[in-house]
Amino acid sequence: MTVEQAIKSRKSIRKYRDKPVESEKLNLVLEAARMAPSARNMQDWKFIAVTDKEKVRQMQDACMGQKQVGMAPVTLVVCANNDSAMPCGQSKTSVDCSIAMSFMMLQATELGLGMCWLGAFDENKVKEVLGIPEDYIVVAVSPLGYADEEPAAKPRKAFDEVVCFDRFK
Ligand SMILES: Cc1cc2nc3c(=O)[nH]c(=O)nc-3n(C[C@H](O)[C@H](O)[C@H](O)COP(=O)(O)O)c2cc1C
Repeated sequence: MTVEQAIKSRKSIRKYRDKPVESEKLNLVLEAARMAPSARNMQDWKFIAVTDKEKVRQMQDACMGQKQVGMAPVTLVVCANNDSAMPCGQSKTSVDCSIAMSFMMLQATELGLGMCWLGAFDENKVKEVLGIPEDYIVVAVSPLGYADEEPAAKPRKAFDEVVCFDRFK
């Protein structure tokens, strides 16, 4: 599968089969996050793969009860510390972690696995469940597993509506 094919075929998966993710595949997904670029290459992040069934159940609670979390065999959590504003004003933590999560989603797609980026979670509960230190920010959570659905592709705005050349239009 090419990167273009992974980008075009990836979809948010919200139903998962009761089938474990092989450790080789899980490690490849986590390796994609490890290899992602970060501001000044600081890599102030942690990637937590939750596989313990009871902890996964607790993660569902921490993610506003979203059923997809409890259905998938793995929950991935991306967090980081030492946040600061970059000269452009953006938080390096949220940008770094978002890139890492995106890399994981594309790697998972190539491996035939599904994910669904979750922004709806209670950060304090996630920290409590996983023992994440106070000074870390949890940026994103996602279930990981084999899809039990084939959702239709969500529409995207037209190329010309979101892309311009040389000047904002
Ligand atoms: C930052 C972010 C937060 C999201 N949070 C949630 C969420 O909490 N629950 C959920 O079911 N989907 C969530 N999504 C998934 C989006 O709804 C989904 O990516 C979007 O509808 C496009 O569909 P697609 O991923 O299948 O292309 C989130 C996506 C992003 C990028």
